[in-house]
Amino acid sequence: MLTPKLINPLYKIPATTLFLGQNLIYLPECHSTNTVAQQLCQNSMPPEGTVVITSAQTAGKGQRGNTWITEPGQNLTFSTLFYPTFLAPTLQFGLTMAVAVAVAEFLKEAGFNPQIKWPNDVLVNSRKISGLLLENSLQGEKMSRSIAGIGLNVNQTTFSLTTATSMALETGHSFDLNHVFHGVVSKLEVWYLRLRERGRPGIEPVYLQYLYGLNQSLSFETGTGPFMGTIIGIDASGKLVIRTATEDRSFSLQEIRYAYKV
Ligand code: BTN
Repeated sequence: MLTPKLINPLYKIPATTLFLGQNLIYLPECHSTNTVAQQLCQNSMPPEGTVVITSAQTAGKGQRGNTWITEPGQNLTFSTLFYPTFLAPTLQFGLTMAVAVAVAEFLKEAGFNPQIKWPNDVLVNSRKISGLLLENSLQGEKMSRSIAGIGLNVNQTTFSLTTATSMALETGHSFDLNHVFHGVVSKLEVWYLRLRERGRPGIEPVYLQYLYGLNQSLSFETGTGPFMGTIIGIDASGKLVIRTATEDRSFSLQEIRYAYKV
């Protein structure tokens, strides 16, 4: 069973947030922080902003059923618990936008030039530096819970994928993990609160500023083959809207891939 509130001196409760990370659960090793957060919610209702963070994630979950593999002790792997009951299920992509923008804004302020590859990969120099996995629960007409898992490559300098990068690889020096963690959760709280106050319109323009490929002609693949198109936006349900020579079409994550792999 978990030992809640076991704080490793490595990760301290942030002084700069109102609620995010104020209940901080550190596990030296775990399978997946998203799954641990889900388990915590099974028998109790942990406070909003609870963070589960680990140094060694052994079965990290990625999007589309992929795994998220990271070297122990080198990177950030954590999950935050939100109760976004103010969001209608149809608007849940607003939360994805808020989390992706928070990571991008953190990186920008740290001197990087990030981009968001729809829906929520964060790239630096066209390589993936961060992946997000939001697992949402609904209750009737409202969202009841979201577990937002964030993997941010910080100090790892070798990757099996040539499409991956880290803060250390991009700069040539290492970073203090606790400092980076505090930077990210501070931004996350700001953008989550902005979503709560202003809704998706308060986030979307910034998301679009970071969006990789916006208004550019790119190559995509669907089940029926490759095609060229231009990303012109994101629809209300979070689908990618692509303009081709003949029409504007919206695609879900399951329906489309960029023709190159990041
Ligand atoms: C992706 O890009 O495929 C999403 C990766 C998400 C990884 C993070 S690491 C912390 C949290 N726990 C998980 O099991 N996954 C997310």
